Parts: sequence; structure tokens; C-alpha cells
Amino acid sequence: MASASYDARRGELTTYFDRTAVEAWSRLTSDAPVSRIRATVRAGRDAMRATLLSWLPADMTGLRLLDAGCGTGALSVEAARRGAEVVAIDVSPTLIGLAQERLPAIAGAGRIDFRVGDMLDPALGRFDHVVAMDSLIHYRAGDIARALAVLGARTDGSVLFTVAPRTALLTLMHAAGQFFPRSDRSPSIVPVTERGLRRRMSSEQALDGFAWVQSHRTNSGFYLSNAIALTRTQRVSQPHPHPEVPERSGGLEGALQPAPRSLEGSFEAAPQHLRMRGMRGMNGTEGSVR
Ligand SMILES: C[S@@+](CC[C@H](N)C(=O)[O-])C[C@H]1O[C@@H](n2cnc3c(N)ncnc32)[C@H](O)[C@@H]1O
Repeated sequence: MASASYDARRGELTTYFDRTAVEAWSRLTSDAPVSRIRATVRAGRDAMRATLLSWLPADMTGLRLLDAGCGTGALSVEAARRGAEVVAIDVSPTLIGLAQERLPAIAGAGRIDFRVGDMLDPALGRFDHVVAMDSLIHYRAGDIARALAVLGARTDGSVLFTVAPRTALLTLMHAAGQFFPRSDRSPSIVPVTERGLRRRMSSEQALDGFAWVQSHRTNSGFYLSNAIALTRTQRVSQPHPHPEVPERSGGLEGALQPAPRSLEGSFEAAPQHLRMRGMRGMNGTEGSVR
């Protein structure tokens, strides 16, 4: 059950992404020229999308993926190209319309089912993987944790998401309000600390069966965001609707416990003891969930 603050924020985001900033988002997510500041955001978002995609299987044939807050659908397209059955949902009908207009031909078995609505809608069903790229960054830590719990309860593989790390620089940049001009500035992003997020996540029972396996920061000019990968380590008790999804191996070292004090306020890549056994790393040295 989502909270009143989640519902209120979703309403503000609907207005923002469906009306106020449609032009800005349409442009930012296209190849059209943008200002130098926005070019750094675009480059950062491209790098972030690549990171998230690198944590998904190379072959997603037969796998269901939820692109939660899909915007104009760039990540959905890449997942469908890998063969995934994508449900791409966003609260903005205008952005969903744009995503449909931009949809290229997808060769192979992959397909995208575009929906307008709330990413937490139970009618969407179960998934092998869920990705929420920059869609939870506007919600408070408690609402992020709750949303992850709701999504996690319906996920058999991994939940990948991004958060805005609370850093002095980001706080300053937000204060300066330089992401967008006043007319189409976003409802504020809510930066969170790793410790605070882990604490809230550890009190969500539905996340008990998940391990925080890796995180990665993308910092590109005016774009600063952390990707986090949660992977299911315990079987779901109900019958598995996707028998082809292999059971995850590895220990529970990364189970969602509050962060050790040394990690307070830090979103650097997870230390070795928080990664699952047998996982290779991102960036050549840290892991990829394959
Ligand atoms: C910053 S945009 C990111 C879009 C896309 N994930 C990307 O990276 O290009 C955030 C998106 O999340 C959507 N969103 C926010 N809250 C949502 C919710 N509760 N359910 C569905 N979509 C939501 C917004 O409408 C917006 O399109």
C-alpha cells in the first residue's frame, strides 16, 4: 500500500512530466542539440542506462521486464532488442505517446507493452526484472523503500534502480536550480544517504529475500546518480510463473542490513563483503548480474 506522500508526489510528477516539462524531456531524450549543461545530463543518463543494461542478461528471451517510469522508453527498446517482454509504464500519457511514436522496429521475439499508470499497479503482474531509472529519485527515502518492497514482492530476479546521492555538491546544485530553467524545473529531487536508504529498506519485509549486490555512481557534469542492484536470493513461496529463470546462487552476505558505519553517507561501489559470491564486477572490476 503506497503512502499519502507517495500519492501526492506522483500527482506532482504527473503534472510535471505530462505538461510542464514535456518539451524539455522530449528534447533531452532525443538527438536534438541541447545546452552544454543539458548535454552533460544527457551523457550521464546515457552512461547510467548502459550501466543498468549491463546488469541485465544479454539474452532476455522469454523474460518479463518492468520499465518502471519508462519516460520516452529508451531502456525498454534496448531490453526488447535482447528479446525481453517489456511492460513500459509511466504516469505521463504524453511521454508514453512519444515513446510509442519513437518506437523502432524490434527484430526478434522482444516486444513492448506501453501502459499509462502507476508503476506499483498490481495488475501488471510478476516480473523477472524491474528497472526504475531516475523515476524514484523524486520520492522520499521511506517511499522509495516501500516502492521497492512492492516491486520486489512481484520480482523473481533483480530490481535495479537509481537514487540521487546526498552530497554537498548536489545540494548546492539543487539550490542553484541549474538543471532546468525556472519554467520547467522538476519537482525537487530528494537526495538520500546510503545509510538512510538501507535502514528503511531493512524494515521492509518483502525485501528480506533480496541482496544489495552492487552499486555504481555516474557523475557527469550536472548529472549525479547512483545505480543499485538488488537480486533475489530466496525463492518466492508461491509457484514460480517463470520456470526458465534460474535460481540465484550465492550467499546472503548482501542481504539488506543497515549499512556498516564506514559506509554512512557513501554510495561508492559496494565493498567486497557485500557482493555475492561468484559475481564478476562492473567496469571490468565490479560485477555484472548475468
Ligand atoms: C526522470 S524521468 C526518467 C524516465 C526514464 N526512466 C528515463 O530514464 O529516461 C522519471 C519518469 O518517471 C515517471 N514516474 C514517476 N513516478 C511514477 C510512478 N509512480 N509510476 C509511473 N511512472 C512514474 C515520470 O512520469 C517520468 O517520466
